[in-house]
Amino acid sequence: MNTIIYIGILLCLADGNYFSAAKESFRMGLFFDENQQTIPINWNIIRDNIDETVELVDTEPISVSEETLFEATVAACDFIADEERIMGAFGPSGHISSKTLESVFDYLRVPYFITNWHPKSDLYPENVFNLYPDADLLSLGMAKIVESFDWKNMAILYETDDGLLKLQEVLKLHEYDKGQAKDNIFIQKLSNDMDNRSILKKIRTSSISRIILDCQEHHIMDILVQAKEVKLLSDFSTSFFLTSMNAHTLDYSTLNTLANITTVRLFDPMQPGFQAIVEEYYPDMDPGTLTVETALFHDALLLIATTINKLKSIGAEISPKFLHCFSPDGFEDDLNLTKIIREIELKETLTGPVSLGEGKRDKFSLQVIEINKPEKPIAIWKSEYPESIHLTRNATEREAELRKRMKNYNFIVTSREGRPYLSKREDSYGNKIYYGYSVDLITEIAKIMNITFEFRLTEDNSYANLVNDLIERRADLGICDFTITPQRREIIDFSMPFMTLGIGILHKETASEEVDNMYAFMRPISWTVWFYIWTLALVISITMFFVARLAPREWENPKPWDDESRELENIWTIKNFLWLTVGSFTTQGCDILPKSTPTRTITGAWWIFSLIIVSSYVANLAAFLTMGKIDVTVDSVEELAAQSKIKYGLLAKGSTESFFANSNDTLYQKMWHNMKNEKSVFEKNNDKGVERVMSTKNGLYAFFMESTGIEYEMERKCELRRIGTLLDSKSYGIGMPLNADYRHSVNSAILQLQETGKLIELKEKWWKKEREGEPCPRDTGDKSESLALSNVGGIFIVLGFGIALAFLIAILEFIWHTRRVSVEEHLSYMEALKCELKFACNIFQKKKRARPVPSNSTSRSSSESMGFHDRLSMAKSMFAKSVSLLHLDSEERNEMRNRNPMRVIAVNGNIVEGSL
Ligand SMILES: *[C@@H]1O[C@H](CO)[C@@H](O)[C@H](O)[C@H]1NC(C)=O
Ligand SMILES: *[C@@H]1O[C@H](CO)[C@@H](O)[C@H](O)[C@H]1NC(C)=O
Ligand SMILES: *[C@@H]1O[C@H](CO)[C@@H](O)[C@H](O)[C@H]1NC(C)=O
Ligand SMILES: *[C@@H]1O[C@H](CO)[C@@H](O)[C@H](O)[C@H]1NC(C)=O
Ligand SMILES: *[C@@H]1O[C@H](CO)[C@@H](O)[C@H](O)[C@H]1NC(C)=O
Ligand SMILES: *[C@@H]1O[C@H](CO)[C@@H](O)[C@H](O)[C@H]1NC(C)=O
Repeated sequence: MNTIIYIGILLCLADGNYFSAAKESFRMGLFFDENQQTIPINWNIIRDNIDETVELVDTEPISVSEETLFEATVAACDFIADEERIMGAFGPSGHISSKTLESVFDYLRVPYFITNWHPKSDLYPENVFNLYPDADLLSLGMAKIVESFDWKNMAILYETDDGLLKLQEVLKLHEYDKGQAKDNIFIQKLSNDMDNRSILKKIRTSSISRIILDCQEHHIMDILVQAKEVKLLSDFSTSFFLTSMNAHTLDYSTLNTLANITTVRLFDPMQPGFQAIVEEYYPDMDPGTLTVETALFHDALLLIATTINKLKSIGAEISPKFLHCFSPDGFEDDLNLTKIIREIELKETLTGPVSLGEGKRDKFSLQVIEINKPEKPIAIWKSEYPESIHLTRNATEREAELRKRMKNYNFIVTSREGRPYLSKREDSYGNKIYYGYSVDLITEIAKIMNITFEFRLTEDNSYANLVNDLIERRADLGICDFTITPQRREIIDFSMPFMTLGIGILHKETASEEVDNMYAFMRPISWTVWFYIWTLALVISITMFFVARLAPREWENPKPWDDESRELENIWTIKNFLWLTVGSFTTQGCDILPKSTPTRTITGAWWIFSLIIVSSYVANLAAFLTMGKIDVTVDSVEELAAQSKIKYGLLAKGSTESFFANSNDTLYQKMWHNMKNEKSVFEKNNDKGVERVMSTKNGLYAFFMESTGIEYEMERKCELRRIGTLLDSKSYGIGMPLNADYRHSVNSAILQLQETGKLIELKEKWWKKEREGEPCPRDTGDKSESLALSNVGGIFIVLGFGIALAFLIAILEFIWHTRRVSVEEHLSYMEALKCELKFACNIFQKKKRARPVPSNSTSRSSSESMGFHDRLSMAKSMFAKSVSLLHLDSEERNEMRNRNPMRVIAVNGNIVEGSL
């Protein structure tokens, strides 16, 4: 019983206390515009957190609009005209109406809370508290995020001018990049009057594949659907970055996007603490769809509750205060509310720690998420460390995710026809089958990258269209003999090179070769040398003939058994000497040889000459016959430029042409000048050029071409060859749209192929193995030169000396001989000389007396009397022989057997007389 009474008293006391001290109460102002209608307001957040002696009076939101500012002011003044204490007011999202109300509450010294983005202003009244991230910091954060994406070119689509303000740091990022003088940013405002599809289509067909979209969340879906209509979303290379903080609340599953869409958010709805709060205060809402305004509003209410607790803790009383708009003097912040709010640091919030030291939110973090994978942010930026960004995935993970994305995607590979890179044929069902180096290469790359692909030929087979395919992203990869050039590199990306090459000169083995293969044996010695040799042989023979006539030793007694014979004979006719020269030149020798010193000297010199010539010839002959190689007229580009007989040309409108046109090298400039002046040397395609090289007679046309093409043709057309070294160096790469996500994968695939030797294997296959017919026999590089006159000239000189010496000896000998004759025959020397010379010069005189007879009338008988004498002596001798035959002794018989009977018959009458 006692207990009950006691409790009753206690209750009465409590009640009494409650009623005695009038409960403190306050109101909050709530000025919303149409954009904020959906924000759920749960005043319980304040009620649950404040001292229960303080009561919050419910208020209805007051609608204000951007257009009717006066009405907003009136509404505010109506609202405050009450006795109840106003602890603060929430402003609308519209900047102008917000600014209006801001000044009203500044005048009243009432804290004014904002939960939206507002541009930075220098006039920041003390009573204004914006929980939305500070404009400057947010802009910086966005810039850091975009920077971390490493986007080289991008389009910025914005809805309002505020959007551009938000992205000002991103724009600066680009300005920083402007040193490279690239117009790689496209800024476009979305507006009601414009069809957004046309803008998106323009982006689709440009080289830009990165899009920053800044618009309100309820427009995002519209625009993405339109992007899907223009096929932006079905493009693997396209990336969207949605800057709206509420973008994560949307459901993107209906889009089926292949494009990579990322967005940014202020909080992580997956956190358990976050989810608990949402469950308690917003039971109807899914944490994933909570908007940033709702979260910030929640945190603002928490801030107010904390402020009140703080007031209570220092014993301040929340007394009623009458405010009105038209007071002549201002009001005081009697509770020091502004100061207290600035000091508060909130921890248990939805959007992270809140502290508004300077009235603005400068502590927050941004999480970058991919819309397909909202549970794990890919990057986190914190305002405390504004210069850095934390990437949550390491390279391996990024790669793995990319692979996952690629697996669902069928890559389009664009190419152009051209042997040996790509050729087309139809199988028996009429399906097109592509084959060639490009096909094999991309198949290998696809195997490594684990992707599927589809081949498409570019229009007109032109390189320009190939580039366009990649720019307009009709294709993801471009593979062919695709030269990496700085100009192309600006509009598309290239993989690392899979082949390196340079400009070479295609020429034909000199045409005479096939005509005179039969005469290959003549080649070791040049035509002029041959001519000299044979002329010389003739000259030598004639010379020796005269020398032999002068040489006494060559005059022999044809009848050695007859010592008294006065007739001497010279066997050396021109015919015999020709026989000797040819016989010795061919190393066969001759059955008769000269006996006199001068003729022997000449013969010796000729033998030395022949020895050298023949050994050189033999040494060279083998090489020439096995290689079938002949001299080349030009061996380098310098030689080609220096001559005018061989014309040279190139492919019109190709990279080779631009190489010459833009070269600063005087040699190339000169060649370019020559080519330009002679229009006919240009060819429409490489095949025509090769054909022209082949068909032009005597190799009088050379064609500049890329070395890979030359190698290919050389393998198939054996008469072709490459002259000199390469003029430049360049590479083929696989083309990709600019900044394609998979370019690293392609690069590493190529690197892998290179390391495993697959690239070389493929080249061998398509250059060497895939050909009809036998491989060309190629020389091993060492060339044999013909023996030129300069190489063998010395031998001719030696021979010349020999001849001169022989003449000298012959003349001396002749003079001495004549002197002897003059003494023996008692003639004057001059007479003897005259007689001997006369005889020597009479080339038809084949026989000589043993002693010359002085010129007198008896000896110089007429031919008739000579004829008679001859015949008479012949008869006599025949008679004498036949008589002697009957008494032959053995000695005489032997001697007779060796005699030529004809010579016996042909003996001169003089001799017969002499012997008789
Ligand atoms: C999506 O794009 C962002 C920004 O370029 C990039 O960091 C991310 O790795 C991409 N995601 C995938 C799966 O490719
Ligand atoms: C283009 O986008 C803007 C911003 O979302 C939108 O207001 C406008 O209605 C769109 N225009 C068309 C023609 O769809
Ligand atoms: C407000 O601050 C002033 C000066 O700091 C102080 O004098 C005054 O007592 C404070 N008022 C309350 C209610 O705490
Ligand atoms: C990347 O992260 C994964 C998982 O977090 C880890 O297993 C792997 O070792 C990391 N790789 C590197 C190169 O740090
Ligand atoms: C490629 O994809 C297949 C099928 O998903 C998988 O089994 C295989 O391991 C992948 N290979 C590589 C190298 O990633
Ligand atoms: C060639 O000369 C011109 C003019 O002198 C110069 O502008 C250009 O850069 C030079 N090109 C090369 C490749 O050196």
